[in-house]
Amino acid sequence: MVRAEHLLRLRAVISRRLGLSLDESRDVELGEILARRLGERGRRDASAYLDALETSDEELRAIGQLLTVGETCFFRSSAQFDVLREVVLPARPRSRGEDLRLLSAGCSSGEEAYSLAIFMCEWERRCEPATWLRWHVRGVDLSGRSLAKAAAGVYSAWSLRETSAELRERYFTTRGREHELRADVRARVTFEQRNLLDASSALSAPEAFDAIFCRNVLMYFTPDAARAVVARLTAALAPGGVLFLGHAESLRGLSNAYSLESSHGAFYYRRPESRPVTAPASAPRTAERAAEPLAPPRAASPARVDPPAVSSASQVHLDAVRELVSRERFDEALDALTRMPSFAGAEVGAAVLRAVAHLGAGDVDAAESASAHLLAADEGSAEAHLVLALVAEHRGDRAKAIEHHRAAIYLEPDFALSHLHLGRIQRREGRIDEARHELGQALDLLAREEPSRLVLFGGGFGRAGLVALCRTELATLGGAR
Ligand SMILES: C[S@@+](CC[C@H](N)C(=O)[O-])C[C@H]1O[C@@H](n2cnc3c(N)ncnc32)[C@H](O)[C@@H]1O
Repeated sequence: MVRAEHLLRLRAVISRRLGLSLDESRDVELGEILARRLGERGRRDASAYLDALETSDEELRAIGQLLTVGETCFFRSSAQFDVLREVVLPARPRSRGEDLRLLSAGCSSGEEAYSLAIFMCEWERRCEPATWLRWHVRGVDLSGRSLAKAAAGVYSAWSLRETSAELRERYFTTRGREHELRADVRARVTFEQRNLLDASSALSAPEAFDAIFCRNVLMYFTPDAARAVVARLTAALAPGGVLFLGHAESLRGLSNAYSLESSHGAFYYRRPESRPVTAPASAPRTAERAAEPLAPPRAASPARVDPPAVSSASQVHLDAVRELVSRERFDEALDALTRMPSFAGAEVGAAVLRAVAHLGAGDVDAAESASAHLLAADEGSAEAHLVLALVAEHRGDRAKAIEHHRAAIYLEPDFALSHLHLGRIQRREGRIDEARHELGQALDLLAREEPSRLVLFGGGFGRAGLVALCRTELATLGGAR
């Protein structure tokens, strides 16, 4: 008989050992899973079963595969493959004379790992044999059932929905409704059943991979589990290597060991060329910035933890500075920031104010350098990207401005002011559909934008003024709301 206390315990074990974040809304499903596993194992005592689950990896995996979502397909988010071809492969020094190693972490039934293999075969077809690299792809997943499907290499048309007819033709043999991947491509990929949270052979060798795809996996984890997995992946990534996440995922709050970069409309994270990372503990290390990153990594530091509480003295001071900024008394605001001996727990807030005040005072260079400092302290700062976008706009560099707004939105999808500024640039660029989309997003999000952000980035407009501005902009685009 499954009782509430059993569900509570089951949820706790799953969170601790699998890293999965499950709230009470999944209790009915958890109850069914527990009852099913008890039946399949011929057990009646749920408490004894839960005791065993604390130490049994096999049973844990069985539970995990019932709970995780394996949704995937070949060539999902194809822009990231463009980055691999145009940015990662050309930058890789051939002098290293080593194999190119790619990892699909959370590979599900193999589509992602095999897409990488097909991608590499295509790359070989297009370049001179003299420039070929030896390469290898590894896939890791918790689910034995998914990995069995990966090993078989046989897929439905649904799995190939984002694969061109040309690639289907070249790499698959079709029998009825099934598509079997060519054996020589399958042979370039190895799969391993592993829990990404455990010390695992695939990830335990330091700097083992040049690129890691860990897409649509972290989103199911608790913050602590996601931080631990990212620390492990960081240690497994070669200096200069890149990490690809799912399009709705970011490293904000999880790690400062990377620079955020973008290309071909995709964001990705680069581990700087630097000192070796030694242990796959929760302390990723980093050093100098990679070429032209959107967000430089900060100095060697542990994975980010929740920010310390802001002391009340710091808060009072920050509020006073924000008030000066809102009254456009930028020089006084900067003076107050300089005179303040410390901003215990509020360094990032103070850095945002400094960047905004410099911008307001017309010192674009100082605003840029203050934002760069801010990013060094908090690589996931959407606000720093917004200031950098405004700096770029001041300089007439709309392309750069768009890039930084996109980075801000990537880091904080609900950042109304970045949507608004981006939409306005796009309107000026004649990108009507995109402008309409961004301004529509801004309009929806403005109602809940933080008041302090309206003060700092609203250009002197209050909430109502910004909403009216959005409506006017949309009306000029023929999209009145
Ligand atoms: C939604 S799929 C993502 C597949 C692929 N990466 C993609 O984006 O198309 C998530 C996968 O993560 C795997 N997973 C979840 N938790 C895991 C863990 N702790 N260790 C290893 N794999 C895990 C699941 O089994 C599932 O196959």
